[in-house]
Amino acid sequence: MAERLDEARRHTLKLVEPLSEEQLNRVYDPILSPLIWDLGHIANFEELWLVQRIGGRAPLRGDLGELYDAIEQPRKIRGELPILTADEVRPYMDGVRERTLEVLDGIDLEPEDPLLADGFVYEMLLAHEYQHNETMLQLLQMVEEYEPVEVDRAPASEPVAEGPKMVRAEGGPHEIGAPAVGFAYDNERPRHRVDLEPFWIDRTPVSNADYMTYLEETGAEPPMYWERDGEGGWVRTAMGRSEAVDPQLPVIHVSWDEADAFARWAGKRLPTELEWEAAAQGASRERANLDQFSFGPAPAGAYADAASECGAVQMLGDVWEWTSSDFTAYPDFRVFPYPEYSEVFFGDEHRVLRGGAWAARRDAIRISFRNWDLPIRRQIFAGIRCAKDDV
Ligand SMILES: [Fe+2]
Repeated sequence: MAERLDEARRHTLKLVEPLSEEQLNRVYDPILSPLIWDLGHIANFEELWLVQRIGGRAPLRGDLGELYDAIEQPRKIRGELPILTADEVRPYMDGVRERTLEVLDGIDLEPEDPLLADGFVYEMLLAHEYQHNETMLQLLQMVEEYEPVEVDRAPASEPVAEGPKMVRAEGGPHEIGAPAVGFAYDNERPRHRVDLEPFWIDRTPVSNADYMTYLEETGAEPPMYWERDGEGGWVRTAMGRSEAVDPQLPVIHVSWDEADAFARWAGKRLPTELEWEAAAQGASRERANLDQFSFGPAPAGAYADAASECGAVQMLGDVWEWTSSDFTAYPDFRVFPYPEYSEVFFGDEHRVLRGGAWAARRDAIRISFRNWDLPIRRQIFAGIRCAKDDV
C-alpha cells in the first residue's frame, strides 16, 4: 500500500512538474480549480481520512480542513482562498505523507471495521488522487505550451481493425454493478440483476470524421477546442498547440446535449448505462488507452483484439461515453462511507458517463464505474457511442 501511495504521488507531481508558480496559481476557468488548490486538497483529504480518522491524530494545521473542503468551497471561488502557496504546499504534502506512513505501519486491516476491511479507506484515497489527476488534466488542456515530462505515444499507433458499424448485444438477464468484495464506490452497489431487451451498439466510439459530417450537415457547434482553419477544415488547439483535427480519432470534449443531438441525427440514441455495462462485459482495462501519458485518444477501432464479449472495442479508455441515464441510486443503495461522494448528486440533474478516457488512471477504471456530470459540460474527456433498438 505504501508503494501504491508513493506511485500515485509521483504521478501527480509529474503532471505539475513543468508548471511555473504563476501557472499553478492561475484560474483558467471558473469551473476548474487552480492546480495549487488540487495539490493541497489531495493532501488534506489524505490527512482527514488516513491520519485523523484512521490514526486518531490531530491535523498539522486545523484551519486547512475548511479551505480544502470540496463541498464548502465551490470551484469558482477556490482561486481567492488563502490556501497554501507553491512553497508551502510541498512540505505540507510531505508532512501528511510521513504521518500517513506512520499510521499505516501500526494498522491492522481489521475485517470488522468497514473502513479498513480490504483496505477500503486506502483504496478510496488512491482513487481520490487518481480522479483529481484527471480534473488536473482538464485544466492542463488550457495551459499554453505545457510540455509533459513523460509521454507514451504507443496508443496513437495501435492498428485499426475494420468491422461492422454496430454490433448486437444479447438481451435477457444481466448482472449490473460491483460485486460485494473488492474496492468500488457506494454508487456501484449493490450488484443486481436487470432484464434488458436485445440492442445494437456502435462497435467503436464516434470518430471525428463522422462528427465533421454531422457539423457540415447541421451547422451545429463544434466540440470544445475546435476552430475553423480558414479553408473549410478544422483545427484543434490544446496545451497551446494547434493541429488539424484527425478524422480517425474519436470525437472528444462534447457535452451530453451535443452527444444526444448527434445520436438522433444518426438515427440512433445514446445507450442507457445498463446497456453500456452489459455491452462492456469482457473488456479489459489492461488492453485499453488509459493512464494519462498518451495525452490523447487512440484511433477509433484500435484495440480490436480486446473487444468486449459482444464485439465492441474501446469500451474502456480513450473517451468517456455519455449514456442516456440520470445519475440515480441502484435499488437498496446504502451510503458508504460519506454522503458527499455520491448521494448528494443523485437526481435528474446529472447524466452518467462510462468507461474512462485516456486521461483516467488505469486503476481508477472498471466496468461498473459510474462517472457523472451536467449535460452542458464539455471540459471533461467525453465522447459518444450510439445505440439503437433491435427491431
Ligand atoms: Fe476531492
